[in-house]
Amino acid sequence: MDWKYRTIIEPFKIKSVEPLGFTTQEERKEVLRKADYNLFKIPADKVLIDLLTDSGTGAMSAEQWACIMRGDESYAGARSFYVFEKTIKDLTGYKEVIPTHQGRAAERILFSIVGGKDKIFLSNSHFDTTRANVEATGATAIDLPIKEALDFEKKLDFKGNMDLSALEDYLKGSNSKNIVMVILTVTNNSLGGQPVSMKNIREVSKLCKKYNTALFIDAARFAENSYFIKLKEEGYSNKTPREIAKEMFSYADGCLMSAKKDAIVNIGGFFAMKNSEWAKQAREIEILGEGFPTYGGLAGRDLEAIAQGLIEVLDEEYLNYRIMSVSYLGDGLRKHGVPIVEPPGGHAVYVNAKKFLSHIPPEAFPAQALACELYLEAGIRSCEIGSLMFGKNNNGKFIPAPMELVRLAVPRRVYTQSHIDFVVEVFEHLAKKKDRIQGLRIVEASPTLGHFTAKLIPV
Ligand code: F0G
Repeated sequence: MDWKYRTIIEPFKIKSVEPLGFTTQEERKEVLRKADYNLFKIPADKVLIDLLTDSGTGAMSAEQWACIMRGDESYAGARSFYVFEKTIKDLTGYKEVIPTHQGRAAERILFSIVGGKDKIFLSNSHFDTTRANVEATGATAIDLPIKEALDFEKKLDFKGNMDLSALEDYLKGSNSKNIVMVILTVTNNSLGGQPVSMKNIREVSKLCKKYNTALFIDAARFAENSYFIKLKEEGYSNKTPREIAKEMFSYADGCLMSAKKDAIVNIGGFFAMKNSEWAKQAREIEILGEGFPTYGGLAGRDLEAIAQGLIEVLDEEYLNYRIMSVSYLGDGLRKHGVPIVEPPGGHAVYVNAKKFLSHIPPEAFPAQALACELYLEAGIRSCEIGSLMFGKNNNGKFIPAPMELVRLAVPRRVYTQSHIDFVVEVFEHLAKKKDRIQGLRIVEASPTLGHFTAKLIPV
């Protein structure tokens, strides 16, 4: 739209609403205690503003709901599958398209084919389920983000980039024959939702070709990444997000996708690739666990809604609102002296709890302490990305994660500007009394993805 006004408005009107979970502070205290200070265990109706994740929490459009009615529920060869397959082929250029119930199922199937003992996967950063699925096959997952990615205050346009010289060192190093795949996560969720530049994707692709390694894109937030390229990278301002997305996919051999993000559906995923041999093996594994390869753990209606979401998510009015509204949250926090990962990411703002709560040592989980305080104060749910998620226990010795972040992930098309203003106001209040916030201690945790179920208590 030809726009002369500063205000960026939500590019939709609301047809269906649901109530927020209002509670008293007394109630929240009890809820938190019962949930063992683990926000994954809080009933969602006790949450006022839910910023736990942007995954599967988006609002579908009227057109997507129409797709839900149109879905063909035939067991095999459903019309909805062909709609889904064609949309993904047109977007990615990959001829083999396999639906799964969500992103991690695609990871599990693909890595069980290419992974295994002694195998190595390289990435700008593996997302936690990606890493867990690599490691579950006996393989090793190595993250090679650019060094600036860990300097949270540094403002750089493409902090999601992969470190090219580190990548080449690995690709020509002594273990090079064990490297089976490079995975570019766009945007880089684990390190601040930061975008990867087209230049970086192109260079990574060149290196992969030179050293004969497959390149896959973890495309969970491919549309947001495309829009950052349009906004910030030279030569792309006149291209559409769709053209940019297609170019990104053209440099890789395949992609893994959690449709719960940039396909704006509540469940679903897929993987797509050029390699027909891998696809053949994948379909055999798919039948064992996910279902017949034309539905892969999804209903026909889900496939149809994903296809529609993949088109809507590339709409420029939508993407502009999306990126600007997340950055609006970042601006608000910064104004009240809350340290965030700079610049704000595409789907989330990450608060640097190590800096905000510098009086809490890593072994007392400062990011989790802040996440709990946010809930206690105002019923806002967020997600710890710190030592609870990534800390290690090495024979009884605690090894903290390199970062202590609280992710405020913004669901797509769900909250309005006044909800975000409220979140900012709560932080303004917390900033004034932050010295009184106390740390936590783990009383129980399982070894794999333990943060989902861990029990904690205040120290
Ligand atoms: N890759 C990335 C980059 C992700 O962010 C996620 C999920 C996955 C893969 C796995 O997909 O959940 O559909 O199985 N991220 C969610 C989050 C859980 O909150 O960031 P899934």
